[in-house]
Amino acid sequence: MRKHDFSHRVELDQALARTVAAALRVDLAQQPRVSLALSGGSTPRGMLQQLSRHDLDWQRVDITLVDERWVAPDSPEANEHLLRECLLQGPAAAAQLYPLLRPQHSPESALPALEAMLAGLPRPFTAVVLGMGADGHTASWFPGADNLASLLDAESQQRVAATRPASVPQARVTLTLAAVLDSRNIHLHLTGTDKRTVLDDATELKLPVAQVLQQTHTPLHIWWSP
Ligand code: 6PG
Repeated sequence: MRKHDFSHRVELDQALARTVAAALRVDLAQQPRVSLALSGGSTPRGMLQQLSRHDLDWQRVDITLVDERWVAPDSPEANEHLLRECLLQGPAAAAQLYPLLRPQHSPESALPALEAMLAGLPRPFTAVVLGMGADGHTASWFPGADNLASLLDAESQQRVAATRPASVPQARVTLTLAAVLDSRNIHLHLTGTDKRTVLDDATELKLPVAQVLQQTHTPLHIWWSP
């Protein structure tokens, strides 16, 4: 686990974007296509905008999401909306987005199509970028979710799952821990002193994010600023 602390969020955004872009270039030199899995929320906005400006062979980059709120496809609350608005601009507009939102009325009914989609993406991911909520969730692995144990089963063959946490208004689809670990690197991106305290206590409190902190399968980088 490597920790990257910054005094200012802009510096963090620039550095993480540079790191992801560099990793993409390395993999693009070695394979025909590469893939990223990115989180939504508010934290990654600046980093995604920085990443979009990097000059690389974006047309060979496949991008999917770590998780998605089950909302209308054109809803501003969709994580897909954030990626389209902040990342798929400029040079990065040439990347291929593989969204998790589907026209099916429920996330459960979309899972077979999503599993097939994810199976077709280059693996391992070049990078997975995770956020973290103040409750210690990451991806859509929320404390108290009925199926949390199966979401966090590192040996699972399931790449994607539906979950209906009581603590959030929408049903979710999310990559499983097993899918997230199938990456060359995991970048956990969070800001603020409150979240830093949650992160520091996550293992002791057995919060979902602790599963990422404790695993030894995939190199983990933690990116933080106040
Ligand atoms: C989502 C995200 C989620 C996010 C955390 C942090 O759908 O909300 O994918 O896992 O990373 O909730 O969100 P903020 O960056 O908004 O604090």
